[in-house]
Parts: sequence; structure tokens; C-alpha cells
Amino acid sequence: MAYSGPFQAGDRVQLTDAKRRHFTIVLKEGESFFTHKGGIAHDDIIGRHEGTVVESSQGALYLCFRHLMVDHVLSMPRGAAVIYPKDSAQILIEGDIFPGARVLEAGAGSGALSMTLLRAIGESGELISYEIRQDHLDYAEANVDEFFGGRPATWSPRLGDLKEVTVDDIGGPVDRIILDMLEPWECLDAVRGLLLPGGVFMTYVATVPQLMKVMEGIRAQGCFTEPRAWESLVREWKVEGLATRPEHRMNAHTAFLVWARRLADGTVAPRPQRRARK
Ligand SMILES: C[S@@+](CC[C@H](N)C(=O)[O-])C[C@H]1O[C@@H](n2cnc3c(N)ncnc32)[C@H](O)[C@@H]1O
Repeated sequence: MAYSGPFQAGDRVQLTDAKRRHFTIVLKEGESFFTHKGGIAHDDIIGRHEGTVVESSQGALYLCFRHLMVDHVLSMPRGAAVIYPKDSAQILIEGDIFPGARVLEAGAGSGALSMTLLRAIGESGELISYEIRQDHLDYAEANVDEFFGGRPATWSPRLGDLKEVTVDDIGGPVDRIILDMLEPWECLDAVRGLLLPGGVFMTYVATVPQLMKVMEGIRAQGCFTEPRAWESLVREWKVEGLATRPEHRMNAHTAFLVWARRLADGTVAPRPQRRARK
């Protein structure tokens, strides 16, 4: 699948009409897309540059761009709730996902985070994604394959419970582990055994009780740095002259992010010092 250059057959293209409604099509030579304002021949788009306008047979205008990963994530079919782009962006940077990294993820859910991780690890990395439910794994596989136009060679989606995974199952410990599941504290023994010293562990939990339980669980393992927890709030702005102001609506809460690093075996981290109160 091409990510830039003139449109080619096989590209997933988003058409936007004057009312800012989106329609997604996959370009095929000789085919047409029909709207209530007439047909658009795919051949009128193939070969043209992105950011171009096509006209339907009844004169309606549509702006054409390739589908971005965020468009795909927010519109793809899903079995489980996806990690939203504002949070996967945090995971990429705070989780220090680098080209060539070996990353373990669970659960794969609908495959939204898998896509983001696969892009970031590049062609020399490896992503192993465990999912306990076959129906969710089917969604993840279909969504990832559709986005990349085939199965990425760097991806190993697996049906299974992360709690039962051993180092031998994954061919050695990994650099990074990311969990997005209801009860991540149940997988902390596994995470301890599967993550390299210095490796980054992140988990994503929606509620305060989950947050408290996983933070306590990480501390109780005794092999991680003091965990950090935060959430990210993204508020869009309407910028139009004197009407410039924040948008009224936002996704105020998605989930909390939790982060810790694996210590070397046998290490006791110095206790964080707090200033004595006067
Ligand atoms: C919220 S979804 C993950 C969504 C995914 N991160 C995405 O962005 O599309 C949580 C998934 O974790 C799976 N799960 C729960 N416990 C698990 C475990 N112990 N091992 C593997 N998968 C698990 C669930 O079946 C569910 O599909």
C-alpha cells in the first residue's frame, strides 16, 4: 500500500463532501462509487495527487485524501474498545518504542494499538500480540491486515492468556510490554518474567479502582521502579476571529496510563526521598 505519491489502484481513499461527510473507498480500475449525488469513477482519481477534488456525475465535489492511520482506527470494525490516538501517541513516546524494538502487547483487542506499534518498530522490530478471545483476535488480524495491505512480517498475533506465557514462548525477553486489559495486575508475574532489565512497562486502565490496584501490584512485585500514573486531556479549539474559543465538546476521559521500568534482578531501588515537612 502506498503512503504518498499519486493515487494508485488499491489505495484506501477518503472522500469528503461539502458538508464534511466522509466516504471511504478502495480504488479499483474500472469501478465507480455511487453517492446520492451520482457516481464517481475510480479512474478519475487514480493517477492524481492527494488533496485533489473530483466531481460526481451530478456535479457534487469531493476532496480526496488517503486514509490516515487515525482515520482507519476510528472507523474500523471493532470487537473491543480501542486505544484512542491521543493515548497511543503517549505510549509511543513515554513507552520509548524504537525502530528494531521487540515489543509484547496484550490484549490485542481490535488491533488499534498493534498498528501504531508496528509502524514505530519499523522493519527490524518484532511485535508479539496476545489476545485471549478468538473473536477479538479475528478483529485485530483483519484490521491490521487491511491497514497494511497484508500481514506485516514483523507481527506475531497469538491466541492465548498472557498470564501463561513463558520466555521460551516468545523467544527471549522483550524490550517493552504494553497491557490494555481489564485486570492487568493479574499479569504482573508474567510481565516480570518477560521484560528485560531496563525495559519499559506500560498499562492502560479506565477506572480509579483499576489504577489503584495495578499501582499497588507493580510496587508489590519489587522489581520495578516506582510507577508513574497520568492521563492526557486533548481539547480542540475553534479558531475563527473573535469567536476563537475551546470547543464545547471533548473526550474528557479515556483511561489512565501507568509506566514503570524493570530493575535488574536483585536490585533494590533507593527509596524516593521526600522533603521533610517543617
Ligand atoms: C480493551 S481491549 C484492547 C484494545 C486494543 N488495545 C486496541 O487498541 O484495539 C482488551 C482486550 O484484552 C483481552 N484480554 C483480557 N485479558 C487478557 C489476557 N490475560 N491475555 C490476553 N488478552 C487478554 C480482552 O479479550 C480484550 O480483547
